[in-house]
Amino acid sequence: MKKILDIISEEIGKAFENAGYEKTLGKVTLSNRPDLCEYQCNGAMAGAKLYKKAPIMIAQDVAAQLKDSTIIENVEAVNPGFLNMDLNKAFLAQYLCDMAADEKFGLDMPKEPKKILIDYGGPNVAKPLHVGHLRSAVIGESIKRIARFAGHTVIGDIHLGDWGLQMGLIITELQERKPQLVYFDESYTGEYPKEAPFTISELEEIYPTASAKSKEDAAYKEKAMEATFKLQSGVRGYRALWNHIIAVSVSDLKKNYENLNVEFDLWKGESDVHDVIPGMVDYMKKEGYAYVSDGALVVDVKEETDTKEIPPCMILKSDGASLYNTTDLATIMERMKDYNPDKLIYLTDKRQDLYFEQVFRCARKTKLVRPETQLLHIGFGTMNGKDGKPFKTREGGVMRLERLMDDINQEMYKKITEGREVEKKEAERTAKIVALSAIKYGDLSNQASKDYIFDIDRFTSFEGDTGPYILYTIVRIKSILAKYVQSGKTTENTTINEPVTKNQKNLMIEISGFNAMMENAYEESAPHKVCAYIYDLCNAFNSFYHETKIMTEEDEERKAGYIALLVLCRDILETCIDLLGFEAPERM
Ligand code: ARG
Repeated sequence: MKKILDIISEEIGKAFENAGYEKTLGKVTLSNRPDLCEYQCNGAMAGAKLYKKAPIMIAQDVAAQLKDSTIIENVEAVNPGFLNMDLNKAFLAQYLCDMAADEKFGLDMPKEPKKILIDYGGPNVAKPLHVGHLRSAVIGESIKRIARFAGHTVIGDIHLGDWGLQMGLIITELQERKPQLVYFDESYTGEYPKEAPFTISELEEIYPTASAKSKEDAAYKEKAMEATFKLQSGVRGYRALWNHIIAVSVSDLKKNYENLNVEFDLWKGESDVHDVIPGMVDYMKKEGYAYVSDGALVVDVKEETDTKEIPPCMILKSDGASLYNTTDLATIMERMKDYNPDKLIYLTDKRQDLYFEQVFRCARKTKLVRPETQLLHIGFGTMNGKDGKPFKTREGGVMRLERLMDDINQEMYKKITEGREVEKKEAERTAKIVALSAIKYGDLSNQASKDYIFDIDRFTSFEGDTGPYILYTIVRIKSILAKYVQSGKTTENTTINEPVTKNQKNLMIEISGFNAMMENAYEESAPHKVCAYIYDLCNAFNSFYHETKIMTEEDEERKAGYIALLVLCRDILETCIDLLGFEAPERM
């Protein structure tokens, strides 16, 4: 469906043309004086220079052409030359009916859908998830859903950190603690046990211990590096242990991401490209892209137009070891081979901005991607505490994701049960659903690149620009619809009527902006646009709700019209929160 602003602009453009002026002057925007009119056009001001005529005269000429318009009404030329106008009510009602009949509420599907691969989440195996991983998962998931809704083929890859020194550290610490384990017996040729020799809680304790030791004890670190090397060169026992570490850790990660309503299509990791790195390195050398500098193998990525220094991309360290960017480049190569995406999107902390600039330039220069392949890094800001510093536990430690979610679940449970009789199980279930909306909306309603303050009190509030407020509004709509059905009627076969009041019309106008908003949210990979839209929509709905007697309306046709409007409102809101990665309960 055409966007409403485009339809109105076309209509005004025609009027300009019919009055003898340039059609392109008819660009219309939402009014910045909603107390005076709904839409406005400033084209007569620009036309004044072109036609050497007072703008008000041009505006009057154009207004005269629009007397019988079926799209707009109350067109007025006001000094010094603005065109103020309202939307025709019948037209608006019809537009919403068309939206309601369309699966995508009026959003057109692309003629050539793109294939997009999103690299997000990025947890490290055997390390507990902390709040830093939250943003990548929450924003990435939403961008994935938005692109899918917009008609594109999207693949989400978790890109596990499963191959570096951290694996060697864990293996080393295990060996210190349990040297008798068969995995360390190099003469052993039999099958290894199916059971892992540790649990997830042991694993999560082992890593920080090993990491701390390696910082103090050089010999220990040396051992860990050797273990990493042995693992990477394929020593059987080490590989078998590694498989256990992955299995135990991944099943724990799956549980965590499921609680976050985050789903990956691919559970690949850094280790998956280990075997293709030598081939890639040879290729880069052979083609003359990579050269040795101070013993290391590098590719220059600086460009003449650079205003800041962009260092070369290091492919191999002087000891021949590969690095974080070596795996990222090899992963790009594999992704192109396996999926041939049109666009690759990465979500990490914005402190990796320069890093991705180097990797992307290197990938382009060495032709790992097609010239037209889009490479996009979305660097997000830090989640801070109320003190403006990175979010920590009360004791000042790194906040684990599970702990954060528990805290919010509890807070939400308290709010939901305060002064009310609610069955415990149901209250717990509802609290979890609403808590997730608080976390995700609190994050997504900010532009991703900005730092934001994680304020539990504010995020869990039922008032203001919050997830719980959005859910509360949806639940309110659902309960009216349920009452209507209980009164023996059906919500199907109802049609949206022309608006009766200003508030109803405002609500309808808010709804009508869905396709324009979605197009923009997709193009800019910007979930915060979806948040802003539903917040305005909920406010418009609540204003309408407070002044309108819906269930007690005596005119049945009018009542059915309200119901149809509520159904569309609910469907759009539920679609939008699904795009943000959360859902609404039936009651709250
Ligand atoms: N595992 C990394 C970390 O915890 C994030 C990985 C991001 N993705 C990537 N392709 N580099 O910092």
